[in-house]
Amino acid sequence: MYCTRNVTDDLVWVGANDRRLALFEGVYPIPNGVSYNAYVLLDQKTVLFDTADKDVGELFFENVAHALNGRALDYLVVHHMEPDHSASIAELVRRYPGVTVVCNAKIQQMLTQFFDLPFENVQIVKEGDVLETGRHKLHFVMAPMVHWPEVMMTYDETDKILFSADAFGTFGALDGAIFADEVDFQHNYLDEARRYYTNIVGKFGASVQAVLKKASALDIAMLCPLHGFVHRTKEDIAFFIEKYDLWSTYRPEKKGVVLAYASVYGHTANAADILACRLREKGVEVRVFDVSVTHASEIIAQIFKYSHVVFAANTYNMGVFVKMEDLLHDVAAHALQNKTVAFVENGSWAPVAAKRMKDILAPLKNMTYLENTLTVKSALQPDQNSAVDALVAEIAKSVSA
Ligand code: FEO
Repeated sequence: MYCTRNVTDDLVWVGANDRRLALFEGVYPIPNGVSYNAYVLLDQKTVLFDTADKDVGELFFENVAHALNGRALDYLVVHHMEPDHSASIAELVRRYPGVTVVCNAKIQQMLTQFFDLPFENVQIVKEGDVLETGRHKLHFVMAPMVHWPEVMMTYDETDKILFSADAFGTFGALDGAIFADEVDFQHNYLDEARRYYTNIVGKFGASVQAVLKKASALDIAMLCPLHGFVHRTKEDIAFFIEKYDLWSTYRPEKKGVVLAYASVYGHTANAADILACRLREKGVEVRVFDVSVTHASEIIAQIFKYSHVVFAANTYNMGVFVKMEDLLHDVAAHALQNKTVAFVENGSWAPVAAKRMKDILAPLKNMTYLENTLTVKSALQPDQNSAVDALVAEIAKSVSA
């Protein structure tokens, strides 16, 4: 049976939740599920904003039919062609053959790439074009690389709603609440919103900045993203936009250290714990992660959050232990910037992990590397206390600078 909620008097959420998908995009664990949001606007003309993943297609189509309540569907606005939102487009056009697909030229091209279907009713729009549907004026805003090159957004000038595509989304299914002000978003959902942003769009900070600049010229009363909550209070919207501004400029939310370690037999873990204790004694906030246990997406999100990172790893096959190597390549792929980094390496006969770790991060911009590197030969020994203290002092000084 249909499951919809009204966003406004004439805008209906027709999305659906998936709590069974283990890995979003085949990569990111989503223990709390994910929502695929779509919206139906009931004006003189009817408009559907996006579709949904095929795994929730049956409910999505029931929702659309319920929202339309027997009316024809006049327009489908496509904001993004990633299949978590576009997979049901072909079936939608089959069910509503009179619908006009509203999209930009890049989206039209991708329609032909994803679907073996002649899309005859397509209205191409570009930056600033307006579609009037009766009471509502829909103004199109291009948003390339947030998260794919074809992405666009729609600003409803009438009700001041920004349909923001992937931007301002979050992992996590919607537990009945579709508005951020129905839950404690800042405490219970921000971590997953950060993990979603940093891993999905984190590489494209400059593109996000370009869209934020466009958004700053709009009077936004509501954000309607393709995942997660609708934001409709001034405080929620300002809070989230400020976070996006920080994340997309790679500025930390907090001063402190993410200490990510790889350890085969526990000796590098021991060094990491000692370092964490000494840093805490100096009043430095530290988050410690075992890269063999915690998914890289969690660690990357925390690296975006904090100002400093310590990577601690053992040498392995004359390189870096594979789990740390994977994390570092992931960090490099996300084009992280503006972090202060230190290294701890271990190696029983030829420790080279620190150099190898730094080599992987070398392409990243605006990174600061601390002078002290702690080298452990098999296990940290009490006669290395001065080396530990030197590294701790340098980190603490840098954090408090
Ligand atoms: Fe939610 Fe880039 O798709």
